[in-house]
Amino acid sequence: MKKNIALIRGDNSSPEIVAQAVRVLDRIAEKYGHEWVYTEVAMGGNAIDHYGEPLPQAELDKCLSADSVLLGAIGGPKWDHLPGSERPEKGLLKLRSGMGLFANTRPAKIWPQLASSSPLKEETVRKGIDFVVIRELTGGIYFGSHETFESEYGGGTERTARDLMVYSEHEIERIGRVGFETARKRRGKLCSVDKANVLDTSRLWREVMHRLKEEYPDVEYSDMFVDNCAMQICKDPSQFDVIVTENMFGDILTDEASQITGSIGMVPSSSLGSGTLGVYEPIHGSAPDIAGKDVVNPIACILSAAMMLRYSFSMKEEADAVEAAVSAVLDQGLRTADIYEEGCTKVGCAAMGDAVLKALG
Ligand code: IPM
Ligand code: MG
Repeated sequence: MKKNIALIRGDNSSPEIVAQAVRVLDRIAEKYGHEWVYTEVAMGGNAIDHYGEPLPQAELDKCLSADSVLLGAIGGPKWDHLPGSERPEKGLLKLRSGMGLFANTRPAKIWPQLASSSPLKEETVRKGIDFVVIRELTGGIYFGSHETFESEYGGGTERTARDLMVYSEHEIERIGRVGFETARKRRGKLCSVDKANVLDTSRLWREVMHRLKEEYPDVEYSDMFVDNCAMQICKDPSQFDVIVTENMFGDILTDEASQITGSIGMVPSSSLGSGTLGVYEPIHGSAPDIAGKDVVNPIACILSAAMMLRYSFSMKEEADAVEAAVSAVLDQGLRTADIYEEGCTKVGCAAMGDAVLKALG
């Protein structure tokens, strides 16, 4: 098959991991007789440096006309002084909304080889960690209006800021359905996470979810408040199969969920809308502190490429092969610094890529 892949190499240490994921994709193409046509896309800090904005329309258009998008990570201290509307992250948000990618899937699964890097107690880890978080990605507080303005205080003025959290029923329903459908393909359990004891958006969320659950009687459904969920994820993650939640709760919970599996450097993600065109990216940031040192872990990006093969291209065998190669490399005891433990062999980013290629054969 021939596929057009838009590549966003990203900022800081991100180009290092994308380079390794591309090597893996190229090996897969060679092995299985596919052809990838790559289109380079500037987004984030890189685009600000070149074009003065984090995602010019022409760059977004390249993504829209591709079969899929592979992204590293964007942002960093170099652009931290910019106002909110001009920051690299704005490019990422524009990409997500511009492509209509409302459903972000982030797996939290412990690799048996890394079980001892989990900060959780051994007996907790032994019960199993294997769940996914379906995060709503184009609504909520990320996309409501943001403003900072002068207000009166103590006889003078001060600045006040506000961010608006907005959800409409159709937005909740479509992400809710992704949650139920995902649960059906897994162990049949769905936990909807909200803050319905405080927020109107959450009360509406819960109402819509309860309406939907009548259509999915085969799925074991529960509601949970987000603060409790944060606690339950570290207390007993084995209780979860699929979690569905709004944008910001999902952002926070997925960082927590990644950490209990050992390292955020291992976690890939997919972002999809109603079709197969998606963005695949590691959930970690651009790690500016280790940029250019060849120490960043490329596995999350390599696994994101595997998710792309699986979900956008329906190439199950190829995706399985990449995941098996990563597992084989972990079996060999190779570890980047973030997952290193005594008795293992510490390798850099490129050497980790080499090892995955070798394991692919
Ligand atoms: C993520 C990141 C982004 C988010 C940032 C970079 C805007 O933290 O993908 O989880 O908050 O969505
Ligand atoms: Mg995040």
